Amino acid sequence: MSGAVPEPPGTSAPCSIVLVGLMGAGKSNIGRRLAARLHLPFVDADAEIEAAAGATIEEIFERYGEAYFRAGERRVIARLLDGPPHVLAAGGGAFMDAETRARIRRGGISIWLRADLELLLSRVARRDNRPLLKDGDRRTILAALIERRHPIYAEADIIVDSIDGPPELTLAHVLAALKAFRAGEATTEAGDLARRGAGT
Ligand code: S3P
Repeated sequence: MSGAVPEPPGTSAPCSIVLVGLMGAGKSNIGRRLAARLHLPFVDADAEIEAAAGATIEEIFERYGEAYFRAGERRVIARLLDGPPHVLAAGGGAFMDAETRARIRRGGISIWLRADLELLLSRVARRDNRPLLKDGDRRTILAALIERRHPIYAEADIIVDSIDGPPELTLAHVLAALKAFRAGEATTEAGDLARRGAGT
């Protein structure tokens, strides 16, 4: 059989890297640093959604509601992943959407930046513009989100703990995990090719 076989994510061909995880996990901070190290552009999905809508995330939630925001998020992430490779910081809810999750799986390597409740709480305290955290006690809301979302984030290709310390340390763990993942994929692919070759 001839013809181009699409390169699966994780092989030597550059593909997009998508950071997922809860608000305050450090997706944008680590994403920016990761992009610089990999010489890839950095894209923040929330900023792209705001640019596309001509409104802030807060305004979108207020005026049109969460479902509208999620539909925009789905479209924007699909568009971004159709473009050239980059490092993408996805909003905390993006990976919860089955369609977006499938799109990320097809178009990139996903990395869950895992953080515990205390770390998330300390980090989200720095900003007051997250609609999901406005209606109630942040600890209670985040604890419920951890309960609901962590099992889904666990489907990411790579899991790295976001450290309460210098971001460069978390970045180092991300880079090491990415390297191991890519090596594993390459090994799997080489094995697959060898098996396929042997069988024909
Ligand atoms: C959300 C997280 C936010 C933003 C929106 C909804 C969520 O992004 O997309 O407020 O559902 O967790 P960050 O995770 O970048 O704060």
